[in-house]
Amino acid sequence: MNIGKLTFNGNLILAPMAGITNLPMRLLCKRYGASLVYSEMISSEAVVRGNRESTDLGFTSCEEKPFGVQLMGSDPDTLVQAALILHNVNPVGLFDMNLGCPARDIIRAGCGCKLLKKPLLIGKIIQALSDSLDVPVTAKIRILNCTDENLNIARIIERSGADALIVHGRTQNQGYSGRSNLDVIRDIKKELSIPVIANGDISDELTARHVLDHTQCDGLMIGRAAIGNPYIFRRISHYLEKEELLPPGEFDRRLDNILEYIELCRKYNMLTFNDLKLKSYWFLKNRENIKSVRKKINEAKNMDSIMGILGELRNQRINPAATL
Ligand SMILES: Cc1cc2nc3c(=O)[nH]c(=O)nc-3n(C[C@H](O)[C@H](O)[C@H](O)COP(=O)(O)O)c2cc1C
Repeated sequence: MNIGKLTFNGNLILAPMAGITNLPMRLLCKRYGASLVYSEMISSEAVVRGNRESTDLGFTSCEEKPFGVQLMGSDPDTLVQAALILHNVNPVGLFDMNLGCPARDIIRAGCGCKLLKKPLLIGKIIQALSDSLDVPVTAKIRILNCTDENLNIARIIERSGADALIVHGRTQNQGYSGRSNLDVIRDIKKELSIPVIANGDISDELTARHVLDHTQCDGLMIGRAAIGNPYIFRRISHYLEKEELLPPGEFDRRLDNILEYIELCRKYNMLTFNDLKLKSYWFLKNRENIKSVRKKINEAKNMDSIMGILGELRNQRINPAATL
């Protein structure tokens, strides 16, 4: 798959997810087959104001190249300024414009999904970004209820210079309920010449195949299914290539993956108690009697106790007779 001047080996993309897609998580997903990964949305206003925490969300490493940064905002000049600041601090492979976040505070600020009702402003934003940046620009939208409006927005995004469009097939009001509307994604794909990436409800190999077949899109973006399970990229890419399912081994893999995650956090000095607690909880799923372990993690008061719980799990795997 090509996005602007960038060429990717595969066509599986990790979705931007606030609080989740930090550098270690993105690197793990890449290790297991994601061709492209995005940061969580970064507020352009906060970056331009000099907010350190927001700028740090754009932190990357050369292991990650090319890395996408997702911008959130509504003012074309501020978005361009923020992109240039972020690009200056860390070389960014491509920028994505958030046109789909349904969170209340984002909508109230006139950003995310709210922009879908202002197609002319969308055009100005995409044009400003693609004129000012020497890297590809993508846009990520949710859909509206009206087919013509969806197609109109998609055409505007393409005409304004975007190099790819990502479509999550749900409306703002749907939040995460109902299903991602594959017919709308397919219609948008038919309408555009730039690559279109389908997003929403891809949870395993079979749904990935189904979404690709139904929409004929150029790539797939995977979000929630990758939380605590970066190996999903290996499973899906293997299936799409060979039409064969990899053997399960799910829990052992997840345990290995959380240990890999911790290693990466250490490497980049990003290991924190809160993040480790949250991520351990997500990684340790899909195993009998795991409830009591997750409860222990929930009650853990410091990093050492979580590391202790994970160590016990690892020992138990080596010696299944040991109890937790
Ligand atoms: C915890 C969480 C945080 C998210 N943060 C973002 C974000 O920062 N930017 C964005 O465009 N979408 C965000 N999303 C939406 C996802 O990128 C994706 O569009 C959505 O989850 C549907 O894909 P899925 O069914 O594969 O999860 C977020 C989703 C979740 C669950």
